[in-house]
Amino acid sequence: MINSILNVSEQLFQFISCKIYSLFMLMIIHLMGISIGKGSAFYGWTKFKHGNKGIIRIGNDCTFRSKHTSNLIGINRPCILSSIGADGSNLVVGNGCGFSGTVIGCFQEIIIGDNVKCGANTLITDSDWHLDDPRAGKPAPVNIGNNVWLGVNVTVLKGVSIGENTVIGANSLVVKDIPANVIAAGNPCKVLKKIESISFAN
Ligand SMILES: CC(C)(COP(=O)(O)OP(=O)(O)OC[C@H]1O[C@@H](n2cnc3c(N)ncnc32)[C@H](O)[C@@H]1OP(=O)(O)O)[C@@H](O)C(=O)NCCC(=O)NCCS
Repeated sequence: MINSILNVSEQLFQFISCKIYSLFMLMIIHLMGISIGKGSAFYGWTKFKHGNKGIIRIGNDCTFRSKHTSNLIGINRPCILSSIGADGSNLVVGNGCGFSGTVIGCFQEIIIGDNVKCGANTLITDSDWHLDDPRAGKPAPVNIGNNVWLGVNVTVLKGVSIGENTVIGANSLVVKDIPANVIAAGNPCKVLKKIESISFAN
């Protein structure tokens, strides 16, 4: 009985706080000149940053979970999306994507398809970041296909494409392309097996 009351109160609290955060986040996003479709939900503050030539475009119905308690998987930081390439950078997120404490750092081009699930504390970047350091490589585009699912703590580094429907296992470090319709995992991330058949409700 007490458990049910606690569960309902928590759901109600999450619902109301999401509505309030979403309202303010959408105002901030529009003021920043970032393009976002309809129906996105924000749990806690997501940080967006773009440079003068940096573009961020987000589709419809995406969810950004930044508060530690906004799900049960153990989010340990807010979502941060940046598009900060000095010569222009293009960060595009499709429809129906979900992010939990996900950091996306774009210096050139990152394209994320539709219905991509990014587990807790995932990192996607097309750059080594310390661009003035001679040991750093050049930024290279990242492409993540429709319906890809990144497990918790996955890191996707520069120049990588992940084909549609593919699952990347928890804690993987993706440094090379991964094809469509496979389960892949590890450091470095490699294909474990093919997904023989898959159907999505949508
Ligand atoms: C990738 C995953 C979906 C695969 O699940 P599965 O199909 O049931 O795979 P299995 O458990 O049968 O493992 C198959 C093989 O892959 C290996 N493997 C599985 N997940 C792995 C991982 N994350 N890293 C390294 N190896 C992994 C297993 O050790 C096993 O190796 P073996 O064949 O040499 O014994 C799952 O292991 C995973 O990582 N899930 C995490 C999802 C997640 O983070 N969810 C949180 C919310 S987003």
